[in-house]
Amino acid sequence: MTKYVVDAKVVGQRMLNAVTKQIDLIAPQIAAEAVPGQFVNVQVSRRTAPLLRRPLGVAGVDREHGVITLIYRIIGEATKILADVCSGDVISVVGPLGHGFDRSAKHPLLIGGGTGLAPLLYLAETMAAEGIKPDVIMGGRTAEDLFWKDMYLDLVERMGLTTDDGSLGTKGTVMAELPLVLQRIHYDCVYVCGPAPMMKAVSAAVLEKGIKCQVSLEKYMACGLGACLSCSCQGIGKRIKVCQDGPVFWAEEVAEW
Ligand code: FES
Repeated sequence: MTKYVVDAKVVGQRMLNAVTKQIDLIAPQIAAEAVPGQFVNVQVSRRTAPLLRRPLGVAGVDREHGVITLIYRIIGEATKILADVCSGDVISVVGPLGHGFDRSAKHPLLIGGGTGLAPLLYLAETMAAEGIKPDVIMGGRTAEDLFWKDMYLDLVERMGLTTDDGSLGTKGTVMAELPLVLQRIHYDCVYVCGPAPMMKAVSAAVLEKGIKCQVSLEKYMACGLGACLSCSCQGIGKRIKVCQDGPVFWAEEVAEW
């Protein structure tokens, strides 16, 4: 698939909660070709070293207007700089990168936590547009982390919410909901994106039930292009590059979370 290097104009940036922002960029070639699960590599500022790039999963596209949407948590130098970018600024974006989700499921369940809910949002939107509304379980530390629920509302059939402190939904992690949900409803594929311990626990429970499971791994990525090995980790029987072979993998392909 073609990768584009685009000088993308920022058309909007807004806070979603105290530490999370949504940025919309004009990148028509990327908007036209990006599929759910793929990511882009964003040069956060032209005023910084060119290597200061940040991989961000595509959270949505507006093909008519050539716009891509990215959602990120403000942690570390790169995202702090990105958070100060204004409408009208131009930043360099490379993409679409990596492999996206398999979309052959007829009864999909999406499970996400934190900014892992960004690529799943684009997946939910695409599935809904294709006539299959998925179910979703989303987990956060507090109710404030689950601002996502409004973004998913029209795209999903059923929604389960969990928070560590019990301030919204079931108290605990997504694992507090999952076993009961898997008992009650037959899914043919579960899609997971979020913190590594969550993905490991969810995929083990899902595979044990004989259900297919796709995970989107989040690893540090320096180049995002398969050249530096910074994202390399252990797969079953071989090393895998998350940026190039993934970020989406079948759960049984992953040995190191
Ligand atoms: Fe450089 Fe994957 S980020 S090889």
